[in-house]
Amino acid sequence: MAVTLQHYSFLLLSFSWMLMIIGRPRIVAGYFQPSQWTPANATFYGDESASATMGGACGYGNLFINGYGKDTAALSSTLFNNGYACGTCYQIQCVQSSACYSNVPYTTVTATNICPPNWAEDSNNGGWCNPPRSHFDMSKPAFMKIAQWEAGIVPVMYRRVPCERSGGLRFSFQGNGYWLLVYVMNVGGGGDIGNMWVKGSGTGWISMSHNWGASYQAFATLSGQSLSFKAISYTTQETIIAWNVAPTNWGAGLTYSSDVNFS
Ligand SMILES: *[C@@H]1O[C@H](CO)[C@@H](O)[C@H](O)[C@H]1NC(C)=O
Repeated sequence: MAVTLQHYSFLLLSFSWMLMIIGRPRIVAGYFQPSQWTPANATFYGDESASATMGGACGYGNLFINGYGKDTAALSSTLFNNGYACGTCYQIQCVQSSACYSNVPYTTVTATNICPPNWAEDSNNGGWCNPPRSHFDMSKPAFMKIAQWEAGIVPVMYRRVPCERSGGLRFSFQGNGYWLLVYVMNVGGGGDIGNMWVKGSGTGWISMSHNWGASYQAFATLSGQSLSFKAISYTTQETIIAWNVAPTNWGAGLTYSSDVNFS
């Protein structure tokens, strides 16, 4: 190997120093700019069908239907941020391993799950997702884009990037006429949601609380009313209003699409 660890650390240091001058992740007029490249490690879970990635801790359910596809990852709790990182997007580059595909600069994944700590294993040997480690447990198809899967684990560099989505925010409903639980999906821009409100056709804006993953809830009587949502991006603080997303006969188990999204 021509590049020793010392060289590499030096390069990293110089690189970080450069970035301090150029600037940290910037938010220009609500538009989210990529963060700096940061070291982590990556493994994969499931098989090539990515079916094991469905029903992850963000609550997106079927990722193919809900706009996130096969290129997804489970984040260690350090990165998962209690679910606020659900929907965020990362470019991941394989580095410093002979298993890396050197002709592939990076691949892009969406966070759809948590990789929980495994305290029975040492952090350097199986307990990859134990705090404070930054770790991506990628879908196998995503991992296979950057490295030979037989390697099992590879060092990576990653950076947060804006999420590119087609179409508007989608709102998937659970609950009943007195308790509404909404999963927000297909989120563009920062990809994350920091605050939500719901407005029935007969109410004012009602603040929703973060439940788990990418879900928000309101304890309010909303049956028989058409529903609008106001959402604030966790990262950019941009506000979006999706008017009359759900009709008066809305129901749990259904998903409603809007025609607005974050940039
Ligand atoms: C990646 O894994 C190796 C081996 O466990 C470890 O030494 C290194 O610190 C890890 N890198 C990061 C950024 O956690």
